[in-house]
Amino acid sequence: MIELKSLYKSFEGKEVLKDINAVFENGKTNLIIGQSGSGKTVLMKCIVGLLTPEKGEVLYDGRNFLTMGKKEKKALRREMGMIFQSAALFDSLTVLENVTFPLDMFSNDTLRDRIKRARFCLDRVNLIDAQDKYPGEISGGMQKRVAIARAIALNPQYLFCDEPNSGLDPKTSLVIDELIHGITTEYNMTTIINTHDMNSVMGIGENIIFIYEGRKEWQGSKDDIFTSTNKKLNDFIFASDLFRKVKEVEIQNIEG
Ligand SMILES: Nc1ncnc2c1ncn2[C@@H]1O[C@H](COP(=O)(O)OP(=O)(O)O)[C@@H](O)[C@H]1O
Ligand SMILES: [Mg+2]
Repeated sequence: MIELKSLYKSFEGKEVLKDINAVFENGKTNLIIGQSGSGKTVLMKCIVGLLTPEKGEVLYDGRNFLTMGKKEKKALRREMGMIFQSAALFDSLTVLENVTFPLDMFSNDTLRDRIKRARFCLDRVNLIDAQDKYPGEISGGMQKRVAIARAIALNPQYLFCDEPNSGLDPKTSLVIDELIHGITTEYNMTTIINTHDMNSVMGIGENIIFIYEGRKEWQGSKDDIFTSTNKKLNDFIFASDLFRKVKEVEIQNIEG
């Protein structure tokens, strides 16, 4: 579980995050949603320690990340897996070498065990057949799956994904969503996903935090969305006709 308490972040006097309070549960896909520029990436960077908030607390299962010592921080970092928007793979390394990389860096296992673990992770994302290929030789969806395998190589307790579906077609996005959701449940990880993809919201939105202009505007599950009267949330979610229709049908069903 990750808990945020009254988080603030600004750049050159401009407040980008304002009083963010939230709880992200383990074994669930926690989504941070909001328009482009609303503060999702800044928030995720504050959580993982790539940015330092001015005020507030970030608690990893009760452990305060912002006040802990260097050594403790380093140890906690190893419990985190990350898939960032632009987190490209190493082009000059094979798929297998890409996944082995964090193990080479951070684990004390023998080379044999490291390769075994990397192959296990590649198998989990259904890519064992591509282990000797180079990133340039595989599709964007496959590259994302390699990034997921690499992110889970060290068996993290916490997984962070910033727009994991950017640049992917809807069908491939669904595969990636299901994969992240499956891994989260299987390993009981605390997973946080930044997205503005409505298919992801409706597919894996177990716990959704809606950010509007740097403030938490709403929190709930995908089912709660259909009954929410929050205007800003509705404007964001039901901007397209399709989702407006889905909501009308849902409400009719609820009212029986
Ligand atoms: N390093 C930075 N310096 C100044 N402003 C920044 C920086 N990073 C982000 N911002 C600003 O913070 C706001 C939120 O950005 P971001 O978190 O990237 O939005 P999102 O991920 O929701 O699209 C934007 O107005 C952006 O311009
Ligand atoms: Mg972003």
